[in-house]
Amino acid sequence: MEFILVTEQHEPHVALIQLNRPKELNALNLQLMLELRDALAQLDRNPAVKVIIITGNAQAFAAGADIKQMSDKSAIDMLTIDQFTTWDQIRKTKKPIIAAVSGFALGGGCELAMTCDMIIASETAKFGQPEIKIGVMPGAGGTQRLTKAIGKAKAMELVLTGRFISADEALSYKLINKVVPVEMYLFEAFTLAKEIAQMSPIAIQLAKEAVNRSFETHLDEGLQFERKNFYLTFASQDQKEGMQAFIEKRKPNYLGK
Ligand code: CAA
Repeated sequence: MEFILVTEQHEPHVALIQLNRPKELNALNLQLMLELRDALAQLDRNPAVKVIIITGNAQAFAAGADIKQMSDKSAIDMLTIDQFTTWDQIRKTKKPIIAAVSGFALGGGCELAMTCDMIIASETAKFGQPEIKIGVMPGAGGTQRLTKAIGKAKAMELVLTGRFISADEALSYKLINKVVPVEMYLFEAFTLAKEIAQMSPIAIQLAKEAVNRSFETHLDEGLQFERKNFYLTFASQDQKEGMQAFIEKRKPNYLGK
């Protein structure tokens, strides 16, 4: 594993996965996502593990999908790369996953946190779907999960402005479970994980499945719709301009084509 660190028994029955591309603020490149998928599948098969925690570092949970890896892609490239199959496999993890978030959880980073089952945040955490600022839109469930979690009006505002919200705002919108001081977020995630880990693994799995069933009815259809529109943005010059402007650290000049 090059981009993640896995500790199978960080605490009895609790595994820890740390996203580990600190210089790129844990931007989620394709290989990182494949490693994450494989690690989760392995932990799912390990009977000694009952709960999984995914974290980043104090500065960033993850600042989104890797813009540098995507910037020159066409819509057909994106369709062919089919990165979201990996996300679908992650979503099928049977054991509960807690996201322990500090710093940036943006774009794909926010989507990854929302793909987890619960979110514990440090008071420095910032959540957002800023894809609109680089000429695209969320592609890994943001338009679907955020809307289901916080309601249409706020989700629309966040997706269309790309603005970030604080951990306290995210808590008030019921996007996350708890906010704690930055020194405590991982400890707090472990406290929650250890409480869950005392329960029957069979009951845990079936209960997770049942809660998700209520949340995920129609999710598949929504995700497919979002995905196709996300790919379509790569047919525009504005996507090229938006991502190039990010890489060159300048303001984008959108032409609407
Ligand atoms: N992809 C690739 N590289 C990224 C990145 C990303 N998503 N986010 C940050 N980085 C890189 C920066 O390019 C920079 O690298 P260099 O030092 O080589 O220039 C490094 O990480 C540090 O970033 P900044 O210098 O920009 O740090 P900052 O503190 O000034 O700003 C930030 C932090 C506000 C998070 C800013 O980096 C930012 O806006 N990042 C992009 C956020 C974003 O747009 N995410 C959505 C991506 S698209 C997506 O996720 C699609 C989807 O739904 C699947």
